[in-house]
Amino acid sequence: MAPSPVRIGLVFGGASGEHAVSIRSANTVIAALEQGQNRERFSVSAFYIDCQGRWWAEEVARAVLASGQPAAPEDLPQPLPSPGFLNLPAGADAVEVWYPVLHGPNGEDGTVQGLFTLMGKPFVGAGVLGSSVAMDKLAMKAAFAAAGLAQVPYVGLNAADLQEPERRDAVVARIEQELGYPCFVKPANLGSSVGITKARDRSQLLSGLDEAASLDPRIVVEQGVDARELECAVLGKRQLKASVVGEIRFDADWYDYTTKYSDGLSTTLIPAPIPESLQDQVRTMALASCRALCVEGMARVDFFYDDRTGDLWINEINTLPGFTSLSMYPMLWNASGIGLEQLVAQLVESARE
Ligand SMILES: Nc1ncnc2c1ncn2[C@@H]1O[C@H](COP(=O)(O)OP(=O)(O)O)[C@@H](O)[C@H]1O
Ligand SMILES: [Mg+2]
Repeated sequence: MAPSPVRIGLVFGGASGEHAVSIRSANTVIAALEQGQNRERFSVSAFYIDCQGRWWAEEVARAVLASGQPAAPEDLPQPLPSPGFLNLPAGADAVEVWYPVLHGPNGEDGTVQGLFTLMGKPFVGAGVLGSSVAMDKLAMKAAFAAAGLAQVPYVGLNAADLQEPERRDAVVARIEQELGYPCFVKPANLGSSVGITKARDRSQLLSGLDEAASLDPRIVVEQGVDARELECAVLGKRQLKASVVGEIRFDADWYDYTTKYSDGLSTTLIPAPIPESLQDQVRTMALASCRALCVEGMARVDFFYDDRTGDLWINEINTLPGFTSLSMYPMLWNASGIGLEQLVAQLVESARE
């Protein structure tokens, strides 16, 4: 007799700026979990987190997936409960493996991973520590530095440092001395390039710092490098493995929000046209960075590469990378011989290890 299917709880949507992307990723993941041999292996219950953080069970979740659009408040069952997480909806008790398809704060930062941990259930992707460290660019950089991984020079600061003229002047002087222009100003906790600005002089630096400070109490400023952008996918738990390396090219000064999310403004090259030895170096560094941050299960690791000097720097780890059919993570695995159907099955398997 065939073993009974594993009950997967797929959670998507979420109270984050990346709600709409999550719906697209979830449609790709569900289709892969319900296709071919996976149909006998898994039975999927979908759970939707609306923009106010309320959790909804199967019926609402499937309607959102079918429409492909965030649910408007008037489309949800009335009366609406108060915003935020109150309790788990019907069907959650039966879930054997949780599969978060959430991006950004509340989904990728260790919070929902903490809930699954408290429930004592396995889940796809990195745990609490890896998720939260990888979400905060300052904590992530400190962990990379401790592991001796090459990264571009940076200065970390708190928004509060900008309040007092004297401390503000000292921070600006330090940035100009240690980094120079151009530099990139980033809120530590957002993602999708939101709130990031490139500063070419002091006035742009000051306005960039104010913008970042309005979004996040923690800020990173990095030396700007003129570099190619390489990405590598990681999968597995006890045995982490790295995919072939891809490259993102775009017709813009840098990979900002509009360039990331507008069709036709960027292209993906898989494998990246780089020497074999560099591919190996990227893969080795991707695995080392995941070990340094306690990231397991699933991750996309992003790099900067200067092909004039040969310098390779790690940029960041994304623990819940985009998962639409056109996203880098599944495309990198596809090019490495693992198609979508097999990929989601391996992700669930690594959660159960
Ligand atoms: N130090 C830097 N030098 C050059 N370009 C950078 C630098 N930091 C960021 N960028 C550009 O900004 C984009 C977004 O920055 P990133 O740190 O990856 O933020 P996010 O987490 O929002 O993706 C990068 O893909 C790159 O194009
Ligand atoms: Mg990035």
